Amino acid sequence: MSNRFEGKAVLVAGGTGGLGRAVSLAFLNESAKVIVTYRDQDEFTALKTLTGGRASSLIGHQVDVTDGNAVDQLVKEILDRGGRLDVMVNAVGAYAGGTPLWQMEWKVFDQMLALNLRSGFALSRAVVPVMLKQASGAIVSISSRSAFDHAAGAAAYAASKAASVAMFDSLAADLKGTGVRVNSVLPSIIDTPANRRAMPTADFSKWPKPEDIASVILFLSSDEAKLIHGASVPVYGAS
Ligand SMILES: NC(=O)c1ccc[n+]([C@@H]2O[C@H](COP(=O)([O-])OP(=O)(O)OC[C@H]3O[C@@H](n4cnc5c(N)ncnc54)[C@H](OP(=O)(O)O)[C@@H]3O)[C@@H](O)[C@H]2O)c1
Repeated sequence: MSNRFEGKAVLVAGGTGGLGRAVSLAFLNESAKVIVTYRDQDEFTALKTLTGGRASSLIGHQVDVTDGNAVDQLVKEILDRGGRLDVMVNAVGAYAGGTPLWQMEWKVFDQMLALNLRSGFALSRAVVPVMLKQASGAIVSISSRSAFDHAAGAAAYAASKAASVAMFDSLAADLKGTGVRVNSVLPSIIDTPANRRAMPTADFSKWPKPEDIASVILFLSSDEAKLIHGASVPVYGAS
């Protein structure tokens, strides 16, 4: 096991989710202090039981990351406790598909923009000033293959993920030369329990595992990736 994140504070928004959980555990395994956001207490409890001897390095905050004031308060609490924030991964998001645009409910459209775009705006707006002060930091946004492959029935999802890539690209341009790096990753279907339940007859072996995507996210968050800034990295595997 390597210890690339020893002494580092890492915020994983959505760190209890299908992908987020693997990301949180991977950072913990590399000695980071990990702060996760979640909504469902049971999901946080479930994550905590998987941390083994690293449980004391995991902190949870029940917070809606689409609420800018709540996110500002969260970041303030992280700084009050530890004084720094080295990495932010945004694994909050949601999918809605199977409905053509003209039949889509307004609330679905608004939810896609809130979870897939506004969350990244609120989180970046709060963490970037901290990282600029440190003159170091890494941000990884989880977008989707759908940001570029715009399938039928997923107009709101595809638009929200494409907008997220555009937003983080522009943020990367803002941050050029500051020591703060920003990248996106683009998963296709991930092998999560929720996807297995939703598509029980699919060939799961073709789907990338959360742990393999987490490895890419940790690499992008590490000093080994110091040359990578403003990238959108496909993590489709063979799918
Ligand atoms: N799964 C896939 O096949 C796939 C494919 C492409 C891209 N992606 C993207 O990858 C990311 C992770 O996906 P996933 O499958 O891991 O999703 P997931 O299992 O639904 O997890 C989402 C996480 O975000 C949290 N969350 C949701 N809304 C929140 C809010 N308003 N405030 C704070 N936390 C909130 C959830 O907490 P609670 O559970 O407590 O609500 C959960 O921890 C998303 O951006 C998704 O769009 C996923």
